[in-house]
Amino acid sequence: MSEQESTLKLLYSEEQIQKRITRMATQIEQDYFNKYIHLIGVLRGGAPITWELAKRLQEQVSIMDFIRISSYDGTKSGEAKECLGLSESIAGHHVLIVEDIIDTGNTINYLLHKFRNAGASSVKVCSLLDKPTQRKVDVTADYVGFTIPNVFVVGFGLDYDQKYRALPFIAELEL
Ligand code: IMP
Ligand code: MG
Repeated sequence: MSEQESTLKLLYSEEQIQKRITRMATQIEQDYFNKYIHLIGVLRGGAPITWELAKRLQEQVSIMDFIRISSYDGTKSGEAKECLGLSESIAGHHVLIVEDIIDTGNTINYLLHKFRNAGASSVKVCSLLDKPTQRKVDVTADYVGFTIPNVFVVGFGLDYDQKYRALPFIAELEL
């Protein structure tokens, strides 16, 4: 444990993250003026950012839901996906998907198609982090906390082998 921790390099402090989320929430609040938001967090990594946004957008968030993405067995990660746990209809709603990080873009691309086909009035994406250099499909998030180079990061929801998710800050994991 302590050996692993010594390989963490701080990228964004708790204070920097909280401030950035507050700024994103202010922008979202303006963009969705007079509209209700159906917030959909992508588990597990998207849980902390979803919660932090929801706290700041209480009056506008009509539904807060969580989904989980699983790759079908026998396929490489990033290929066929399945969305589990959507518990409310999104038809006619303004859906805001909340993710921890966009890497290849496969997950978000899949969800955008799925939710648009399910009759959402609008579908936007908010991601705490973005690694644009890693894209395999052409997707962009509407709201991005921090844009990072191709490094492996942990904390604030992001894990390495299920570890480090609960860190309040974001660090680069030097493997
Ligand atoms: P993609 O955009 O479909 O490639 O999927 C992004 C997902 O890959 C995220 O939700 C994370 O679960 C995982 N991921 C990508 N980069 C990192 C990282 O640097 N640290 C931890 N998880 C990552
Ligand atoms: Mg994720």
